[in-house]
Amino acid sequence: DGAVGSGGTRFDGKVAIVTGAAGGIGAAYARALAAEGASVVVADVNDAGREVADETKGLFVHADVSDPASVQAMADAAVERFGGIDLLVNNAAIFGTMRLDFLFTVDWDYYKRFMAVNMDGALLCTRAVVPHMRARGGGAVVNQSSTAAWQYAGFYGLAKVGVNGLTQQLAHELGSLGIRVNAIAPGPTDTEANRAVVPGNMSQKIVRDRLALKRMGTPDDLTGMCLFLLSDEARWITGQIINVDGGEVF
Ligand code: NAI
Repeated sequence: DGAVGSGGTRFDGKVAIVTGAAGGIGAAYARALAAEGASVVVADVNDAGREVADETKGLFVHADVSDPASVQAMADAAVERFGGIDLLVNNAAIFGTMRLDFLFTVDWDYYKRFMAVNMDGALLCTRAVVPHMRARGGGAVVNQSSTAAWQYAGFYGLAKVGVNGLTQQLAHELGSLGIRVNAIAPGPTDTEANRAVVPGNMSQKIVRDRLALKRMGTPDDLTGMCLFLLSDEARWITGQIINVDGGEVF
């Protein structure tokens, strides 16, 4: 199944929340964490997350990361079921139409909704878990950025620049509480969501022209970095944005 370290014990006794874990990269993160012993909360607006939770012996929570009450209920459910929270992966996002809408013309309500999910969602979820991480003496957060932050990708790119900024600012605010905050910036990764917005011929061109390793990434290509950043191996790393992209040239 490609899970990293199946049967491992790196996260025994740890409780992890992964947002947007109903499918794609988030589901891979949830599986990899569970394979290393973590109790995983699969949080998503898509109820297909229930299957990922069953598979990982975790807890599914229907949660909208842009809604403060829903995010609070997610944290409460995690604590009620597993007794605390140690790790958070802010992975949920919507793709929208990416480059097809311009920042200077995009419908304002749509833009606000987009930023509420893709950027503010990471902050809301972090705010909700901080008291619980504090209560356990520390924790770790991984934000899902994108190499789109380093290139032109309209408001999708802008939201990821915001995620990078949050990563750096929160790392400083939370460091004294023993909470580390880092981000993974994946390059093009083969998921249903990616295929829905990037035409196949464009992906082939990106791979050929821009990726040193000459193939699309897969969700399982990203799990190693996610587990590393959440683990004690990364105890001296915070506020960093790590490209995991097969050698993308911008
Ligand atoms: P995906 O669409 O499978 O994953 C996103 C998940 O977030 C979905 O399950 C969706 O239901 C959920 N979601 C959307 N809005 C939500 C909300 N308001 N509250 C809770 N959950 C919500 O897409 P994929 O490809 O797995 O992407 C996952 C993350 O990786 C995203 O942050 C994306 O921006 C990022 N990323 C993806 C890349 C790719 O090429 N696939 C490349 C770089 C970054």
